[in-house]
Amino acid sequence: MDITITRNPSPAEKPDPSTLGFGKIFTDHMFVMNYTAGQGWHDARIVPFGTISLHPASTVLHYGSEIFEGLKAYRRADGKVQLFRPIENIRRMNRSAERMCLPQIPESDAMEILTAFIRLEQDWVPSAPGTSLYIRPFMFGNDETLGVHSVKNAVFMIITSPVGSYYKEGINPVKIMIESTDVRAVRGGTGEAKCGGNYAASNRAGEKAEEKGYSQVLWLDGVERRYIEEVGAMNVMFKISGEIVTPRLSGSILPGITRKSCIELLRSEGYTVSERLISVDELEQAMETGTLEEAWGCGTAAVVSPIGELCYNDRKFTVNGGRIGKVTQHLYDTLTGIQWGTLADSFGWTQEI
Ligand code: PLP
Ligand code: COI
Repeated sequence: MDITITRNPSPAEKPDPSTLGFGKIFTDHMFVMNYTAGQGWHDARIVPFGTISLHPASTVLHYGSEIFEGLKAYRRADGKVQLFRPIENIRRMNRSAERMCLPQIPESDAMEILTAFIRLEQDWVPSAPGTSLYIRPFMFGNDETLGVHSVKNAVFMIITSPVGSYYKEGINPVKIMIESTDVRAVRGGTGEAKCGGNYAASNRAGEKAEEKGYSQVLWLDGVERRYIEEVGAMNVMFKISGEIVTPRLSGSILPGITRKSCIELLRSEGYTVSERLISVDELEQAMETGTLEEAWGCGTAAVVSPIGELCYNDRKFTVNGGRIGKVTQHLYDTLTGIQWGTLADSFGWTQEI
């Protein structure tokens, strides 16, 4: 692939790692590439980070033709930088593109772009414990017309942001509210695609939860409002009477790469993990009787995040005394150990760049 590089003439100072938070600071460059039907992808370029200009009729501004991904680059103790299962993100992005009638990017091209870009920005990968460089690839439809149809023009970009923890709680348990009015997605809709509209539609419930002191909402299925789906920015897992359970991939939840990794890791260690329907009644009963032993969320930004309190229809339930559970802690330690290179990667998940 031919990628032209225009270096930023005034690179920024690297931030103090204690002030990072999530997605507030951006690196010196961004990747941009255009798609035109009949011509394919063209003009791959790395340019100084900055604003972009769009035609006021651009498809994305009217019809939400947008998909994105999220992955991280980690600084190992030996100073090298590695990615975690990047091919999984590339494949999911192409599946999201297919759902949203956006163009695919060949896997090998996407990998080449990603590694070339992260190599150029590698000084931005922080080294303080718990920090990483969050990578946000995204694509949007960019026809300059108001007709509703699959697009003939698209833009693919990558921006990167040095980050600390996603939740202000860090690894401490978060409080989650089960949402029983709004729904996030339905089967056959766009729930399993990583598209911007899913997040726009979930903000109302998220705001309501935040007002009540909860970090995010736990969604129920869109048809019966009965089955557990996922949390705003992470998949969810429970340990109920010794059984580790997580909602099966139904078509309406995001097939998380952290979810997949947790399942593979636990199964490789002899745990049984059931991917199945979990009704909110089953969960409520488990909370009432104390058989809900642990609950946690998992996602790239959120890593493995213990859930210390769940609220359903204004009833509050504390999980594991509000403390991180054994399996949750073990998953956090093992996954982050592999990601930051302090534990051996027997799965071949990491890729040095
Ligand atoms: N579910 C939603 C809605 C998300 O936004 C995310 C974050 O990407 C996840 C689940 C977890 O997915 P992954 O582990 O691939 O980051
Ligand atoms: C991620 O974990 O990468 C996500 O995309 C979550 C995000 C919505 C902050």
